[in-house]
Amino acid sequence: ALRELRAFTEASLRPLLGETIALELDRALAGRLELAETALAALKLQYPDYGRRLEARYLERAALRMEDAAYRRLFAESVIGREVFNSLMRDLRARQREADREPRLDLGMEVDDLVRRVPLFAAIDEAGIREIAGLVKPRLGVPGELLVKRGTRGDRRMFFIASGAVEVDVPPKPVRLGTGDFFGELALLTRQPRNADVTMIGYGKLLVLEGRDFHRFLRAHPDVRERVHEVARARQGIRRGA
Ligand code: CMP
Repeated sequence: ALRELRAFTEASLRPLLGETIALELDRALAGRLELAETALAALKLQYPDYGRRLEARYLERAALRMEDAAYRRLFAESVIGREVFNSLMRDLRARQREADREPRLDLGMEVDDLVRRVPLFAAIDEAGIREIAGLVKPRLGVPGELLVKRGTRGDRRMFFIASGAVEVDVPPKPVRLGTGDFFGELALLTRQPRNADVTMIGYGKLLVLEGRDFHRFLRAHPDVRERVHEVARARQGIRRGA
């Protein structure tokens, strides 16, 4: 779509707006295009299947637009009659609707498997794993995404890193957490505002647990609770410079 827009500024807006504005617009669009292409390339590297399917969808949509134009031309030139034209267009519309649907991004997020990657749950039996899998929501984190904002109140969620890494912006120097770690527990335990920014570095898979499920789960699993408290105490100690 961005490429089409560039062609459009080139062909139609230049004569209308004059050289300078058209050039500026073109430069802005070129920048966007580069960003979009970089993002697509990154997505393809990370999720090759999805990237391929996405690309196939774009090609399919372009082909359908060409087909659309061809039928209109045939009809305009009276090569086909209205009835045939209408029937062809109905069929085409149906295929266009199908092609407009984005392919599903399969993150490989079988929640049970993701839960098992978190050492905190290592000692929990199968029933416990299924219970926690029913409570957490999987989600994809993207590079630079701010997951927890320092000073925020009322954001009652805790995060588990099933894969990937985050940076916790604590003085004197940021701490990195990776696969299997968790964060966001302090605000839930102390009922204080979030004590640091937490940002994704790279792509990753997270499991998000709502505060009230967190408390209920900890009540039912004292050993997990003990471990969470232990980690929380250590983190608070570091913050106080102990
Ligand atoms: P919370 O205060 O809810 O939100 C920010 C989170 O960053 C915090 O919970 C902890 O999970 C995490 N965090 C804070 N300090 C540290 C630290 N020193 N090391 C690792 N993680 C931390």
